[in-house]
Amino acid sequence: MRLLLIGPPGSGKGTQAVRIAQHYGIEHISSGDLLRHHVAEGTTIGRTVAACIHRGDLVPDGIVMDILRKPVEAATRRGGYILDGFPRTVAQAQAAYRVAGPLGTGVRIAVYLTAGRRQLMTRLLARGAQSGRTDDTEQVISHRLDVFDAAAKPLVDYYHHRETLITIDGERPIDDVTRTMIDHLDQARRQLGLPEHPTPPQPIVEHPRDACRCSPRQPSTRTGRAGATPVPATHDKAPRSPHDGWTHTAAHGGHADEPPC
Ligand code: AP5
Ligand code: MG
Repeated sequence: MRLLLIGPPGSGKGTQAVRIAQHYGIEHISSGDLLRHHVAEGTTIGRTVAACIHRGDLVPDGIVMDILRKPVEAATRRGGYILDGFPRTVAQAQAAYRVAGPLGTGVRIAVYLTAGRRQLMTRLLARGAQSGRTDDTEQVISHRLDVFDAAAKPLVDYYHHRETLITIDGERPIDDVTRTMIDHLDQARRQLGLPEHPTPPQPIVEHPRDACRCSPRQPSTRTGRAGATPVPATHDKAPRSPHDGWTHTAAHGGHADEPPC
């Protein structure tokens, strides 16, 4: 199973991706975690992207494609993946589609996790007080939310037209969001004719914080184009850019041609 998870900062992409990966026995691949790892290790890539992340700007596409290529290919061989935080823009989505389609590593289902700006800010400020993530300050969070908002609609439209798109209200308690996501993913998988997952479902561990959290909101989910067959990559006529493939070699450390974020 190959999934991707779109959502604003703080919507719960990482939280849910870990659970979904565990449930279906697939790999969780987070572009943000991979980038932060490079920063922590002081690699060439890390030194290039540190300022972008610190400011809350997007890292250049070619770098992101580079760091994701190997994990995505390896995860495809091992049974699938859930991509958390990629793509961020239609340009990234188109690039991934062109490369992944022919390799058979492309996504089949996209999940869009939503939450209101106030809730997102509250969550990320709370996390920032503990996590030490340098981009979890009020000013940078606000900028990250703006960056997401600027790209969100075209990105969601892109997947709505090309893949099965599931929209899930991420403001509800964590366990509710997980259950709803699994219900909709199972439904979409049946409609797509995907095989049953290879490992038995893992039990969902109740999140202790949810025990006392009541949300007045009703679950709001929508499955878009369920049953649709993803369009082959060759149908995507968007023009190629110099950074549209998972073909750059990060080992060269070579992205000097790319503009800084
Ligand atoms: P990335 O690491 O992807 O950060 P982000 O998108 O800003 O999202 P977060 O990780 O902050 O939030 P999340 O949605 O994962 O929520 P989480 O589960 O942690 O990217 C960081 C940076 O890397 C970017 O700004 C950019 O510079 C660069 N980058 C990454 N990918 C890139 C790409 N493709 N292209 C270019 N640049 C890229 O939850 C947040 C908090 O809320 C936690 O404390 C959690 O416990 C809590 N929480 C979660 N769900 C709930 C719930 N339902 N109820 C209550 N609390 C909840
Ligand atoms: Mg995250």
